[in-house]
Amino acid sequence: MHNAKITGWGKCVPPAILTNDDLATFIDTSDEWIKTRTGIHQRHVSHVETSELASLAAKRALAAANVEGSEIDMIILATASPDTLIPNIASTVQANIGATCGAFDINAACSGFLYGLGLANSQIKSGQSKKVLVIGAERLTFFLDWSRRDTAVLFGDGAGAVVVEATEQDCGILGYELNNDPAGREFLKAGFGTTMDRFDTASLDFHIQFDGQEIFKRAINGMKNLSTQVIDMCNLPIDQIDLVIPHQANERIIDTLISKMKLPKDKAFVNIANYGNTSAATIPIAICDALEQGILKPNQNILSCAFGAGLTSAAVLMKWGDRVTPLKESDAELPECNQTALELVKRAADHFCDS
Ligand SMILES: CC(C)(COP(=O)(O)OP(=O)(O)OC[C@H]1O[C@@H](n2cnc3c(N)ncnc32)[C@H](O)[C@@H]1OP(=O)(O)O)[C@@H](O)C(=O)NCCC(=O)NCCS
Repeated sequence: MHNAKITGWGKCVPPAILTNDDLATFIDTSDEWIKTRTGIHQRHVSHVETSELASLAAKRALAAANVEGSEIDMIILATASPDTLIPNIASTVQANIGATCGAFDINAACSGFLYGLGLANSQIKSGQSKKVLVIGAERLTFFLDWSRRDTAVLFGDGAGAVVVEATEQDCGILGYELNNDPAGREFLKAGFGTTMDRFDTASLDFHIQFDGQEIFKRAINGMKNLSTQVIDMCNLPIDQIDLVIPHQANERIIDTLISKMKLPKDKAFVNIANYGNTSAATIPIAICDALEQGILKPNQNILSCAFGAGLTSAAVLMKWGDRVTPLKESDAELPECNQTALELVKRAADHFCDS
């Protein structure tokens, strides 16, 4: 049986940056509150659709693995903010990279990328696929009620992708666990779907709503439980975990999780300051940043865990291979953005803040 190993990685973060001070120009908040309560300093706002962010991240991941789009056997795209529900946007990525294979979206909210990584592992271990592209991509700024300071300050846009390949080497995904707690469905939601009344404009005012404190507690417990399960399942002594790449929803959630798992604080990779919560994209973006910064090193044991609406949770344990540099680089870029982030969100902010 083959192992499933990440051989390529790429991220796409849109250029327009919305700072905490920008937010304070139209909602009652402050840079200090946001930084101290969440760890977020800024977030990126996209001028293009989610599929375009996903396609660019995918092209960069393919180049890093030196794999052609035509070699990919399956595309799994995790998103809760696709540009179209029908068709899925994995098919847009597929067309953009020239792949001939199965392609589908999954919605497991912030846990979506790890759900996709788990599925890719099973697909490769069963012998069904040799090269799987897993993407997390979001444009969550579309779903925000910009008058609500509890949610508007937390989220941002971006995408990350990895190529997962079959290998006979002794590395790759060691194990994974997925879970969902439907009792918590109501704690985090955006009421967009066929329950909307399409003839009533009020029902078009969908936006992310949540019970922040309830999610905070459940996020820590959900990630801790699944992480412990996967570590036990793989029989890996906890002190042999070299790096934790957790979902980036709130720096205080990460700190509490690491302390409850009795891991040293410096084992957690944290980049929430730059991006906010990009939901399914936080972990693949963090993998790219950890590699770029030399924090993710050859042959490390890496634990990754996530939590999101559903309430989903996921944990993946992997042993990285010996390569931490890309084989090639893609020269693809996003179209130029000629608006500031404040200009990009202005119409939505005016709509919500005036009503
Ligand atoms: C949302 C979250 C940051 C709020 O932090 P918190 O420490 O729990 O803050 P509270 O909700 O207790 O609010 C404390 C006070 O700050 C205020 N506040 C909330 N958001 C604020 C903001 N952006 N700016 C300034 N003040 C704010 C509240 O109104 C409250 O004021 P009050 O005491 O006068 O009523 C935190 O609960 C969280 O990160 N939850 C999970 C996030 C999540 O669900 N992510 C998505 C799923 S992965």
